[in-house]
Amino acid sequence: MGKIKACLFDLDGVIVDTAKYHYIAWRELAKELGFDFTEEDNERLKGVSRMTSLDILLEIGGVSHSNEEKLRLAEKKNENYRTFILKMLPDEILPGAKEYLEEMKAKGIKIALGSASKNAMTILDRLELTSLFEAIIDGTKVSEAKPDPEVFLKGAEALNVLAEECVVFEDAEAGVEAALAGNMKCVGIGSPEVLGKAHLVIDGLHQMTYEKLRSLED
Ligand code: BG6
Ligand code: MG
Repeated sequence: MGKIKACLFDLDGVIVDTAKYHYIAWRELAKELGFDFTEEDNERLKGVSRMTSLDILLEIGGVSHSNEEKLRLAEKKNENYRTFILKMLPDEILPGAKEYLEEMKAKGIKIALGSASKNAMTILDRLELTSLFEAIIDGTKVSEAKPDPEVFLKGAEALNVLAEECVVFEDAEAGVEAALAGNMKCVGIGSPEVLGKAHLVIDGLHQMTYEKLRSLED
């Protein structure tokens, strides 16, 4: 790989902490279905699509439902989840995230979003970040979930850069795997134990710099 020309950002857990709202909404659904859902269980849902999240939840509760009923349950959870994200404000942007996006843009690095969420547009609008992204690939635009690299490959394509010229920022193991499967560099946001396959692991975008990005170049 040569020069890095683009950064592809996951949304949930990288730019904003939506996991707490997902948790409340899934826990309420679990309660209605008659079982507990812990914060530790919630870790298993990070980066995972809505329907796969539901499958994991139902497996934890030891219950099964028809496909039709599963669609209804997922819709119910999403309606509840949306009551939280519709109230989000720009002060919920994680430390350093907006500053880093702006700095990269100023340096001529292209910026895209690569998220599994079908609510990504709502969240970006609430955080007033939409205009910073040159391309937005979200859960409404992909057919394969992470760890499949589709979301990031589509991001690279939309930015008109090669996969080897991209760095992905991810907080979920499945997202790191997706980046690597797409032949991209990856910065993990979170713990090295979980994200050890990434080329660099940091606590948050407040720790990221242009120099660290350049150090990822071969
Ligand atoms: C990912 C989150 O970004 O989006 C997952 O990490 C979530 O927890 C997934 O399940 C799908 O989100 P949504 O908003 O389409 O239900
Ligand atoms: Mg994430």
